[in-house]
Amino acid sequence: MSEHGNLTDEFTSAWWAEGLRGGTWQTTTWFGAPVQKHPFDLMMFQEIVWATRPQLIIETGTCRGGSARFYATLLDSIGEGDVLTVDITAQPDLPQHPRIHYRTGSSVATTFLDEAEAWAGRVERTMVVLDSDHRAPHVAAELVALSALVTPGCYLVCEDSCVNGHPLAPDFGPGPHEALDGFLAGDPPFDVDRDRERLWSTFNPQGYLRRRG
Ligand SMILES: C[S@@+](CC[C@H](N)C(=O)[O-])C[C@H]1O[C@@H](n2cnc3c(N)ncnc32)[C@H](O)[C@@H]1O
Repeated sequence: MSEHGNLTDEFTSAWWAEGLRGGTWQTTTWFGAPVQKHPFDLMMFQEIVWATRPQLIIETGTCRGGSARFYATLLDSIGEGDVLTVDITAQPDLPQHPRIHYRTGSSVATTFLDEAEAWAGRVERTMVVLDSDHRAPHVAAELVALSALVTPGCYLVCEDSCVNGHPLAPDFGPGPHEALDGFLAGDPPFDVDRDRERLWSTFNPQGYLRRRG
């Protein structure tokens, strides 16, 4: 249960599971492209991008491209930056935008990691968003492989840490939350920024990590 009690958990659960046509997050769009996020988390991304001004956002899990399109809109507003996004499945009809660079392959494949590292090496501020395969071993591998690219002061966002009973989808099995537990136990140079959960309902509990420095 969150610090705000049952009301928050019930609201989050309703967002996740109900809505007019199934899970509300499955019906949300950004400039016409499906974006599989809680609108409160989208608002929080806006606050983070405005505050930290990343020049590069690396996203794992493109899906229909709505989240990449959302990040591109934010970067348009601050006047610089690119989105490098990868999905293991080639996705049709992705929204086209000059700031978005789509790749197909695994987020932990050397091909993608080498390219991500090269891109990050060319900028001063990099943010990473993990939103691909949410099973704990894969998220743990992403955390190891991509956390080092996040620059001090910027964010590593680990999405959908709400599953496996945090408080949703209790039967999911070990997921992002458990991967984060293991990652944080290793004392990485990140702080869990609980202030980013202050809009009460989030799909990313413990998932907003700010790099120290
Ligand atoms: C939750 S969806 C992403 C949602 C999207 N970021 C959004 O907010 O609209 C997860 C995506 O991760 C992709 N995926 C699964 N395993 C992957 C992997 N190993 N590497 C990259 N993408 C993967 C799936 O094909 C799927 O499109």
